Amino acid sequence: MVRTALAISLIALSAACAAPNPSAPASPAADPTAPAAPTAPLAAPSAPAMRLPADAAAPAPTGQTRHTYSQCHVDGPYIAITFDDGPHAENTPRLLDMLKQRGIKATFFVVGQCAAEFPDIMKRIVTEGHEVANHSWSHPQLTRLGEGSVTDQLQRTHDVIRQTTGVSTKLLRPPYGAFTTNQRAWAAQKWGYKTIMWDVDPLDWKFRNADHVKNEILKGTVNGSIILAHDIHKSTVDAMPGTFDGLLAKGFKFVTVSELVAMDRPLPPKPKATPASAPPMTDAAKPTAAAGAAAR
Ligand code: NI
Repeated sequence: MVRTALAISLIALSAACAAPNPSAPASPAADPTAPAAPTAPLAAPSAPAMRLPADAAAPAPTGQTRHTYSQCHVDGPYIAITFDDGPHAENTPRLLDMLKQRGIKATFFVVGQCAAEFPDIMKRIVTEGHEVANHSWSHPQLTRLGEGSVTDQLQRTHDVIRQTTGVSTKLLRPPYGAFTTNQRAWAAQKWGYKTIMWDVDPLDWKFRNADHVKNEILKGTVNGSIILAHDIHKSTVDAMPGTFDGLLAKGFKFVTVSELVAMDRPLPPKPKATPASAPPMTDAAKPTAAAGAAAR
């Protein structure tokens, strides 16, 4: 039963771009070019991880080779707002109007089958200066698929983005934030993809309430934030005028994810990294701690 509910909810999710109202006949299977393979994860036996916290699925933000970004370290009040799972026939154009009115740039992580259905909206997104990026073809949990199926999910979406907009994206957001460390490295090698997570999540898919969405975003956003939202939900788009105006009033400047990543600077080294000059570690640590306490 749980499995059936999951299957239904995943189908509903993947169909969200196609049918703004229930009377519309479209369904994920309505696209004759859609492969049968992506339905495979629906039958997966174990309990689903519907949404992983960004950093549960991400390696530590500093240090290693950087395939993943949940937040950027930038000099200035720059942020990126991202919209997943569209384009949507009604909500995405309405959102684009709001962005245009304010001169704000956003990043759209599109589902390939939706992009194929709404090529004109895809063109409009790019024409108006926003970024488009890969969110898989039909929104499965990619950690449950074999390499061939994951390749199919990502390549088809990569191709439809290029066909509809002329853009060869370099960014991927895996559905549910689920993508293993090995998959990230593989996608980086195969497509040059950076895996983009988020640090601000208003849970707008769960709380279909514009005030909640706005308040969570205004509360959580800091310099370098990557904000997660979904332009398939009317309540999310309803939240955006207040969200945008609130963030602008706080002095934040909106850039695309690629622009934010390009601004990313390594975090400054921690104070303890003063090597040979002070041999006994304890002596070096004490004044640092004291200074830190005094600084508060
Ligand atoms: Ni999604």
